Amino acid sequence: MVVMMTSMDSAPISFVLFQVPSTSADWAFSFFKTVQSTDAYIWPRTEKDIEGFAADGALFGIRRSDTGELVGLCYVVLNEEETEFEIGGLIVASTAQNFGLGTILTRFAVAHVIANERPWHYKREIISHIHESNNAPRNVFAKSWFTFMGKEIVPEEHAPASMKRNADGKLVGDKFLFPRSAVPALSKWLDEEFDGTLRNGTVIAIELPPAGLDGLRGALREEIQDMAAAE
Ligand SMILES: CC(C)(COP(=O)(O)OP(=O)(O)OC[C@H]1O[C@@H](n2cnc3c(N)ncnc32)[C@H](O)[C@@H]1OP(=O)(O)O)[C@@H](O)C(=O)NCCC(=O)NCCS
Repeated sequence: MVVMMTSMDSAPISFVLFQVPSTSADWAFSFFKTVQSTDAYIWPRTEKDIEGFAADGALFGIRRSDTGELVGLCYVVLNEEETEFEIGGLIVASTAQNFGLGTILTRFAVAHVIANERPWHYKREIISHIHESNNAPRNVFAKSWFTFMGKEIVPEEHAPASMKRNADGKLVGDKFLFPRSAVPALSKWLDEEFDGTLRNGTVIAIELPPAGLDGLRGALREEIQDMAAAE
């Protein structure tokens, strides 16, 4: 078993999951760029895009509590038609992978959208895209209750030059949906299973305004009541 240790006291490293403030958007952008600039599976975003996500409260990061180093990032963006919230730009630094941070980031981004945007009330869905050749995030999304919807070809005029094309010269993404029917599973995980401890004893604190972890737990329980009332 590999355990990430600090050099000071040999305790497992701890992390903080937080909403990245606008004042830290440049820091988040440089982290995003270090990975995206060499990864043909990640949709490129400009510094202005990242600033916009931060200003909307839709940029989530994970930092090491000891050094403050940013090791994880993802954003949530509403599409132009305002019908889908997309979880995008999921990145975990190679030094911090396989501790469960990518899964935690995804689940909390989804919980935050449910709690603060009430997507289904406004007939909106929560989705994500994975490049058809990218295997790394598949377990993360599957374990976060996303289900495969189908393949989508990005029209060439919208396809970023940096992204990998298939043998037919097309940029193709697999689309995944977080179904409303998965809210009870997410809620159960938050209420009964998540205690701030990850794989290998890694510890993570949750700093998500406006109401933190308990606010998210309460909001998900309310969503389940709304679902029952609507049936
Ligand atoms: C995808 C990514 C965010 C996962 O972060 P992470 O913190 O390691 O995620 P977790 O620890 O929660 O889970 C990792 C899971 O992915 C699996 N995985 C990791 N790399 C993999 C790969 N190349 N192929 C298949 N599975 C892989 C692990 O086995 C693990 O599965 P398990 O929990 O069933 O054992 C990280 O690998 C990454 O940043 N990759 C590069 C960027 C990227 O592809 N982002 C996704 C854009 S949609």
